[in-house]
Order: sequence, then C-alpha cells, then structure tokens
Amino acid sequence: MAKILIVYHSQTGNTEKMAQAVAEGARAIEGAEVILKKAGDAVLEDLLTADGLAVGTPENFGYMSGMIKDFFDRTFYGAQEKVFRKPFVVFISAGNDGTGALKAIERIALGYKFKTVYEPVIARGAITEEILMQCRELGGTIAGGCQLGIYS
Ligand SMILES: Cc1cc2nc3c(=O)[nH]c(=O)nc-3n(C[C@H](O)[C@H](O)[C@H](O)COP(=O)(O)O)c2cc1C
Repeated sequence: MAKILIVYHSQTGNTEKMAQAVAEGARAIEGAEVILKKAGDAVLEDLLTADGLAVGTPENFGYMSGMIKDFFDRTFYGAQEKVFRKPFVVFISAGNDGTGALKAIERIALGYKFKTVYEPVIARGAITEEILMQCRELGGTIAGGCQLGIYS
C-alpha cells in the first residue's frame, strides 16, 4: 500500500482547495493511503513513513509560505539519508506569479534529495476547475506511481 503525505499551508483557502483535489486524485488510486496535513501539524515521522510527498504552498513575498519553510526547517536534519529519491511533487497558489516559491522549493528538494516525479501545478489567481483537474492528476500520478513502484 502506497502512503502519500500531502503537506500544505493556506491562509485564505486557495492552496487548501488544491490540496483537497490532490488528495482526491491520490485516493482514487486503489490501495493508496492519503495523509493530508497542514504544515504546522506535520512532523518528521509523517515524512519518513510516507512513500511519496506532495507539498502545497501559497507564494508569499516571492517565496514559499513561512509555515512550509518551518516544516522543512524542522525535518531537514532528521530526514538526512532517509528520504533519498523519495517521490515528490509541488503545487502552488499565487496571485500572479509563483516562480519564486517554486524555485525555492526545488532548491530545498535538492537538499533533501527528493525525486521530483511530475510537473508542478501553479495556480495564478482564482482556483479554476482546470487547476483542480491538474491537482487531481498530480495526486493520481504520484500515488499511482508509488503504488506500482515505478519511481524506485
Ligand atoms: C503576505 C502575502 C504575500 C504574497 N506574495 C505574493 C507573491 O510574491 N507573488 C504572488 O504571485 N502572490 C502573492 N500573494 C498572493 C497569494 O499567493 C495568493 O493570494 C494565494 O492564492 C494565497 O493562497 P492561500 O489562499 O492558500 O493562502 C501574497 C499574499 C500574501 C498574503
């Protein structure tokens, strides 16, 4: 059974809608177990026991939200050598950009040595049905791939 951890932060609900859609897509994969956690509630153990990780953040001041940065800060040392090539995907809600948050997360993912397994979903402005569809696809892809063992 593939366990997918979805960690997100959302201040006004946009990233949360995306996270719910990622979870929906992942749950649609038979045998997948989905753990959906707000960044402040997610701990190292969640990361270590997950087969795949999806991280969702709003873009704040050209960067990831402070709460997502805090999750990375709290788990980095404990995750060393234990998350090598763990499948990883990102989704971002931005007012009109999103590139700063993406770049920062990609850099951090390199530090953890995660393996990015699918294109990021970046919403600019309102969360449309098209974006939710992309998020479901993102969730289904990481969960399906983990379930089939194609990333290892
Ligand atoms: C403090 C703050 C900083 C922001 N900085 C950016 C930014 O640098 N680039 C951008 O495109 N949007 C920026 N935004 C807009 C948010 O990314 C956008 O409203 C997003 O959808 C919020 O997601 P949430 O509803 O999950 O909190 C900022 C919003 C806030 C509150």
